[in-house]
Amino acid sequence: MVIPFEEEYRKKFYALEEKIFESNMWSEGQMLHDFEDKFGEYVHMQARGIADGGAALLAILSYLDVHGKDVIVPSNTFWADAQAVRYAGGHPIFADCNREDLCLSLADLKRKVTDNTKAVILVHIGGHIAFETEAIAAFCKEKGIYLVEDCAHVHGAWWNGKTGGNYGIAGAYSFYATKTMPLGDGGMVVTRDKDLLKYVEEFRNYGKEVVDGHVYYRMQEGFNYRLSEFNAALGIVQMERLDHILAWKRALAKKYDQIFENRVKLPEGMISGYYKYIVFDTPLKQETGQVFGPRDQGYRIAGVPADVPNSDWVTAHHKCAPIYLGYEHADKSVDELRSILLGE
Ligand SMILES: Cc1ncc(COP(=O)(O)O)c(C=O)c1O
Repeated sequence: MVIPFEEEYRKKFYALEEKIFESNMWSEGQMLHDFEDKFGEYVHMQARGIADGGAALLAILSYLDVHGKDVIVPSNTFWADAQAVRYAGGHPIFADCNREDLCLSLADLKRKVTDNTKAVILVHIGGHIAFETEAIAAFCKEKGIYLVEDCAHVHGAWWNGKTGGNYGIAGAYSFYATKTMPLGDGGMVVTRDKDLLKYVEEFRNYGKEVVDGHVYYRMQEGFNYRLSEFNAALGIVQMERLDHILAWKRALAKKYDQIFENRVKLPEGMISGYYKYIVFDTPLKQETGQVFGPRDQGYRIAGVPADVPNSDWVTAHHKCAPIYLGYEHADKSVDELRSILLGE
């Protein structure tokens, strides 16, 4: 897989690097603030940069204090979610997904909730917003359970004017090297909760607070989860480039929609960021594997027995058609792509 980064954007990045050298602030400087402002504006919330998507989840769960509590996590997701719950002192309880969107099932969530449930992690899998998001948010509100959104895949997805992170207390974005908006590594907590924003600022920096030039260590949980100025500078440039990345992916998805019948079908009005293009029971001649295979899933890694038939079905029946930026055949016609991908 290639990771293209066009000359025009390289130049912008180099110019920002120069500014970092001139500023003598290689960490916790203006780039981070500018990236946070731009990302916050994009998602219609406020944002705080952090080392990676896993650290973003951990910061949110630590803020919610899930010690000794259950946190419901989808079985069909990356190990990061369950591991973040464990690192925050909670117990991950695995709930099944739906076959239609691969995301958390409201019906199974209702079965798994108990008096000890403090939070639910909803993961928007594959680039679209989980189809039951609004109903899950309403259910969590009714039960007094915190809803945390894992937004590692959801960059560029919109539904009724909202993107990932807007439905619960907070969202955790990842900018890992293969994500829709890659920085190599990086993450962002998005929220409207002012106390959480302040908590993240301290949590990512060993619990340190600076007041009038004096340093105070106010909390025990913090560690080094800082996002460096160089990554933040790349984030600023990637934000400018995001529309280009998304337009490219959507144009290819439009062609794929004419080729694949058995696929994830978006509800009316939903716009996907197409982190992945997911098809079912379709033998592909070129593919990028599975969103999550058995080796990634938290409940298998944790060795926790879970009755999750839809997750097992999804694992056995889905594959992804190539939709990463730079896929060499993206410019081909629908018929040519059909022949390349299906051999027809
Ligand atoms: C759904 C999901 N959540 C969280 C993460 C963790 O993000 P990061 O690698 O930035 O820690 C990933 C993958 O990287 C992911 O796919």
